[in-house]
Amino acid sequence: MIKVKALRFRMSLWYAIVLSACLIAYGASMYIGVSGYLYRTLRKSIEHDARTIADKVLPNVSAKGAAYLQAALNEMYPEVTARFIRVSTGSGTVLYASPRPFDKSFDPTLIPFSPITEQSQFTKSVHGAGRFPILIDVLPYTAPTGELYFVEVGANTQRISTMVRGLGVSLLLGIPILIAIAIAGGILVTRNAMQPLDDIAESAERITSRNFGERLPVIETGDELERLTISLNRMIERLQDAFAHIERFSADVSHELRTPLSILRAERELLLQRKDLPNDVRDKLLNSVEEIDRLSRIVSQLLEISQLKAGAIKVDPFPIDLGKLAVNTTEQMLLLAEIKGVKVSYDTQPDCYIEGDGALLRQVIANLLDNAIKYTPEHGHIRVATRRSGSRAILEIEDTGIGVAEQDIAKMCEPFYRADAARTRTIAGAGLGLAIVKSICTAHAADVAITSAVGVGTKVSVQFRAASAPAKLSKPEPMSDLRPTET
Ligand SMILES: Nc1ncnc2c1ncn2[C@@H]1O[C@H](COP(=O)(O)OP(=O)(O)OP(=O)(O)O)[C@@H](O)[C@H]1O
Ligand SMILES: [Mg+2]
Repeated sequence: MIKVKALRFRMSLWYAIVLSACLIAYGASMYIGVSGYLYRTLRKSIEHDARTIADKVLPNVSAKGAAYLQAALNEMYPEVTARFIRVSTGSGTVLYASPRPFDKSFDPTLIPFSPITEQSQFTKSVHGAGRFPILIDVLPYTAPTGELYFVEVGANTQRISTMVRGLGVSLLLGIPILIAIAIAGGILVTRNAMQPLDDIAESAERITSRNFGERLPVIETGDELERLTISLNRMIERLQDAFAHIERFSADVSHELRTPLSILRAERELLLQRKDLPNDVRDKLLNSVEEIDRLSRIVSQLLEISQLKAGAIKVDPFPIDLGKLAVNTTEQMLLLAEIKGVKVSYDTQPDCYIEGDGALLRQVIANLLDNAIKYTPEHGHIRVATRRSGSRAILEIEDTGIGVAEQDIAKMCEPFYRADAARTRTIAGAGLGLAIVKSICTAHAADVAITSAVGVGTKVSVQFRAASAPAKLSKPEPMSDLRPTET
């Protein structure tokens, strides 16, 4: 579809209008100029011939007779010149009339006498000719002896008309073709001129919070484009600073909260050791310890997310068999599924390797499984699958649970987001599990895609870059830290 408002379209349109106007003006002036020049030249030539006959031949006619006139004119203007020549006396007697020319382009006998004049005068006669008139110059001449003659010299305008018409046709055909070529060229040129903007847009699209260090290519044109790229780069720099500040701030807050929380917990544990505590105080203290634990977990998870985002947690790339990792991790959580009455099945392909940090990847699988178990009612089914597809290794965890509405899917990975509070109120969670999954996956350059339908189920698929199988036995993966992010 043509985007009428697009700068490229408007530039091309203006260019086409200006160019068409110029070409049409040029064509019209060329047409008028050339045809005028041709007619002028023809007039001059006929006038010159009439004058030559009058000056060179007619003075001798009264002395030498009509035979002399005939011989002289036949010699000067043989039939091939295709000139119409007629010499008559003042009383109307024709002394000489040129024969029909070789090309039979006109018949001289049919051409009527031109009106008598006192000076050289041009007339046009369509008689005796085809479609094109004969242009005739009538020149009155008075011989030294006093006799009056009329010299008529004419030429068929067919050749000039044909040439002018040919010029007109070629201009009419040529100008639109030229305009079309020029417009196509103009579109190409504007497209090329716009290409740097496309490159800028593409680079800008690539810049995310994870690669804020990247900059747009500066186009050194010395004009608005260069200024635009420099300004955008400065803006990205300011955003990077602001972003780093926020990341640092949340990391600092989480870090600073950990110590007071530990102190609070330790104090309560000390109090709980006292034997003389009334039961209701003991219950309250136990409750507050539980709440402190919950808060501590949230704080640690927040810290983990900020550190992952800031790149402070080093991802140790090690070859990992994705299928084995998925099965291992799932086995450790089977009890949870059993308690909930949910069936778990595997569909893993062998030799599906990726490079990554085993402990972090376990956390991804554990968090996804935890969600699948939490949000799938009794008798539900969870499928854990791994497979290789081209250069990608894919991990899929699919459940037949409560699902999420389409408009909420995009927000699921945001920290503290919990879809449909009414349905999840009874299910424990802080809304940080998927945010951690997302941060870990981003640190592994993996994509997380979620599809879900309310009441049908949810499928989370994580696409890693596939790696080749390790040559020798790989480092055993850490088996600890398998706990999902319970809160
Ligand atoms: N498999 C799933 N089925 C249905 N809803 C899901 C599923 N996984 C996630 N969700 C929805 O997405 C929200 C965010 O998930 P996330 O794992 O980040 O948080 P959580 O499970 O509520 O808490 P946490 O993981 O911190 O214990 C959940 O509250 C839930 O509404
Ligand atoms: Mg969760």
